[in-house]
Amino acid sequence: MEAIQCIKERRSVRTFKTEKVSQEIVEKIIETARFAPSWKNTQTARYIVIENKEMKELLAEKAVLGFSHNAGIMKNAPQLVIITCVHGRSGFERDGSYSTSKEDRWEVFDAGIATQTFCLAAYANGVASVIMGVFDEDKVKEIVGISEGQVVCAILAVGYAEGETAAPKRKEVSELVTYFI
Ligand SMILES: Cc1cc2nc3c(=O)[nH]c(=O)nc-3n(C[C@H](O)[C@H](O)[C@H](O)COP(=O)(O)O)c2cc1C
Repeated sequence: MEAIQCIKERRSVRTFKTEKVSQEIVEKIIETARFAPSWKNTQTARYIVIENKEMKELLAEKAVLGFSHNAGIMKNAPQLVIITCVHGRSGFERDGSYSTSKEDRWEVFDAGIATQTFCLAAYANGVASVIMGVFDEDKVKEIVGISEGQVVCAILAVGYAEGETAAPKRKEVSELVTYFI
């Protein structure tokens, strides 16, 4: 698929068919996502794939900060992919000090790039996704058993799209760009 088409046509999909995405396709997607750029090529993004129904339901019931919209998406999706990152590398010097005034925020920045790269690679493989940011990080860690050294950056619902999703409006380029010429 052509890159521009992939970027423009990918949509956040919240309703899925029951069919699961095979492990082979999931790994094909991650094989592409691992090419995402990262701070000093630290590659700290990790992907936790959850198909287990009980775990999905626990996350939907206990880890969405009461946001029933996301609970519904999680229950309906055949798979969730939790994007985590290894804490303490992206944005850090070797001695453990911060490299910039953004402190450890570069690690979530890197995870964001990895997440969008995952979503684009998924779309190019016919797989739909939505990024979810409303979740209770501590509860997610507890339910899934994610270690302290990892940051939970995003939860994706992943699967094959049921129906069509309209494209939300985008701002015009003139609203986004500033030139100093
Ligand atoms: C960081 C981030 C957090 C998001 N969190 C949620 C969420 O919790 N629930 C949800 O339904 N969509 C969520 N979205 C999806 C956005 O609503 C969606 O990307 C936006 O409306 C544009 O639609 P599009 O992705 O189809 O272009 C999130 C997107 C991003 C990038």
